[in-house]
Amino acid sequence: MTVTDLNPNDTKTVGVAILGMGTVGTSVAQLLQENADEFAHRIGGPVEIKGIAVSDLSKTREGIDSNLLTDDARALCTRDDVDVVVEVIGGIDYPRELVLSALKAGKSVVTANKALVAAHADELAEAADEAGVDLYFEAAVAAAIPVVGMLRRSLAGDQIQRISGIVNGTTNFILDAMTSTGASYEDALAEATRLGYAEADPTADVEGHDAASKAAIMASLGFHSRVKFDDVHCEGITNITADDIAAASKAGYTIKLLAICERITDSEGKTAVSARVHPTLIPNSHPLSSVSESYNAIYVDAEAAGSLMFYGNGAGGAPTASAVLGDLVGAARNKVHGGLAPGENTYANYPVADFGEVPTRYHIDMTVNDRTGVLADLAARFSAHGISLRTVRQEEQERHENARLILVTHQAREADLQAIVDELSGLDDVREVNSVIRLDG
Ligand code: HSE
Repeated sequence: MTVTDLNPNDTKTVGVAILGMGTVGTSVAQLLQENADEFAHRIGGPVEIKGIAVSDLSKTREGIDSNLLTDDARALCTRDDVDVVVEVIGGIDYPRELVLSALKAGKSVVTANKALVAAHADELAEAADEAGVDLYFEAAVAAAIPVVGMLRRSLAGDQIQRISGIVNGTTNFILDAMTSTGASYEDALAEATRLGYAEADPTADVEGHDAASKAAIMASLGFHSRVKFDDVHCEGITNITADDIAAASKAGYTIKLLAICERITDSEGKTAVSARVHPTLIPNSHPLSSVSESYNAIYVDAEAAGSLMFYGNGAGGAPTASAVLGDLVGAARNKVHGGLAPGENTYANYPVADFGEVPTRYHIDMTVNDRTGVLADLAARFSAHGISLRTVRQEEQERHENARLILVTHQAREADLQAIVDELSGLDDVREVNSVIRLDG
């Protein structure tokens, strides 16, 4: 018998518990109730919300049967009539406890919680394996853009070389506003806050932490190795100035906050995985440079598939609910028909590369004394560090004794590039290192 032959009403109801009733939880509950028949056919059996855990029982929730609400999440996620637990609370410690107890009680779990997965995927995956249940987290990376499914399933037969992505909408909105209007970082952030893109406390977004969680998840899945949040080198966008953006535009580049995950060979010839988040100059010809406003995009290089790009809304109640519901259909189908989704597999077990070993390129903007021999001296210093210069541009300054020098290097080890920047900052002829931004693509 195939799934389509099944009368959904003949099979056991899949009971669902939803933990959290914020924007995403509300959207999940509404869509699940509105489209119950559709879900029953897609799953091959009826699906029903058995309970919803909330922190405030007194709040009215339109369209939600108040009998479903409980403030005892711990009891709900291990209840006998619950088969799948959807965790959309956020935070780390409390949801970790709930998800672990649900998995240990034999419930499959669907979570949208990137911080939880990036910090504790090993422990959660082990608990899911031991209990023989599913752990799904498509919504944890870029909402409904199918990044997790693509890495876990679609490209499971390929060798991924590199993943680079714009995975944070708030910072992309800010950088895009700075690029298109010439605004300062502060003004662009204020506009993002006014329009509801940036949260009241924007730290997790603008410091790159949100993107770093997503980078850890993508690197773990893409390279079959364990990469955690703390393994990701992370720099945010708070130091990017209108001048940096203008200089980048003039040279044909756009500044984006990229999450970059790649397999590298370190100086001892060993394979390692690098995951990092930092502002990056990308040429205007690169498809990621045209990702505007708060959109996300993920660019993947795989050996056989070649280059692929995935683009769309990376946040918001409905797009995140779409990803959660897709996972819920998968988990519920497995409850009805048996079987498990592809779980995590860290067989390759590559170590995380030392950040100093990562090959990268720098765009260095500095103000120097405009006198004979300065350029030759600087070129010799780069050469002594084994760094080759790709382009050198000099601009006159209002003060004629100064010149602005913009250097772009060829690829070199991060540690060597850091060393030359430290050295430049201490030279009498270098009045100021205005900015150092990595360059990609
Ligand atoms: N705050 C994130 C963003 C969405 O701005 O893209 C949730 O990860």
